[in-house]
Amino acid sequence: MDNAIMLELRKVSQHFYIHKNLTVKAVDELDLTIRRGEVLGLVGESGCGKSTVARMIAGIYQPTAGELVFGGRGKPRVQLIFQDSAAALNPRMSVAEIILEPLRIQGQDYKSPAIRRRMAELMEQVGLAERLAGKLPGELSGGQRQRAAIARSLMVQPELLVADEPIASLDISRQAQIISLMQRLQKAYNFTLLFIAHDLSVVRYISQRTGVMLKGKLVELAPTEELFGHPEHPYTKALLSAIPVPDPLYERQKQILDYDTRQPLGREMCEKRPGHFVRVS
Ligand SMILES: Nc1ncnc2c1ncn2[C@@H]1O[C@H](COP(=O)(O)OP(=O)(O)OP(=O)(O)O)[C@@H](O)[C@H]1O
Ligand SMILES: [Mg+2]
Repeated sequence: MDNAIMLELRKVSQHFYIHKNLTVKAVDELDLTIRRGEVLGLVGESGCGKSTVARMIAGIYQPTAGELVFGGRGKPRVQLIFQDSAAALNPRMSVAEIILEPLRIQGQDYKSPAIRRRMAELMEQVGLAERLAGKLPGELSGGQRQRAAIARSLMVQPELLVADEPIASLDISRQAQIISLMQRLQKAYNFTLLFIAHDLSVVRYISQRTGVMLKGKLVELAPTEELFGHPEHPYTKALLSAIPVPDPLYERQKQILDYDTRQPLGREMCEKRPGHFVRVS
């Protein structure tokens, strides 16, 4: 992994103005650096702002405050994969049309033999049989739809892939398959991956660094094993304590920690150990 910075979020906010007495601070003064070639996990409970971060990085939303600063090589090509590909994929397009669509939008000659070959190669790499090329999304399983969404995103050779809970709609065994597929593809193509998930156990095996979000802010960010081994923030500890352990004896002794998310968050991130940042008051 080279350590060059791809993208820096500097005090980035996304405040949704609902009416004069209500503004939702979906993301609030978030600082985050994404390095070229890394796999960065982002976790947090529903509503903490993960998808809003994804949308700002993909350019769908402009931050209402703060800025996105690009590294030396400028603005990366970004692709976004959604949780629910049933909703994200056009139900009337065949798998082949779906995979080729980003190229068509770019005005490329998507009927050329070279592009057809590349599509066949990608379908094979993501584990989609050739005979599925003519099928509609509704004729596929959830796992196959996610594979099609992954092939589609890779067709335009993204430098940054943002996967927004790509496995949340799948059952456990399919989840593991899609995670290992994304891991293999990331190694093969060396794109940068921002992997968003609800819970920590999912990102452990894929991400090198992990950030924990709460109420639009990061509360902790560290190399993944460091975060699991030495969690500092009480919210991170609570999330970790909620992960089931496959040992019934230990499971019985284990205490699930509580964290009251209504309490105010600290104002600053402090570097407790090299690369390990924790929100403190
Ligand atoms: N377009 C919008 N208009 C108003 N409020 C929004 C909008 N998009 C998101 N929000 C609100 O912003 C907050 C963060 O939403 P976001 O979808 O980013 O959370 P999330 O962490 O992705 O949640 P989940 O795990 O459920 O996907 C929520 O309170 C949500 O209701
Ligand atoms: Mg979301």
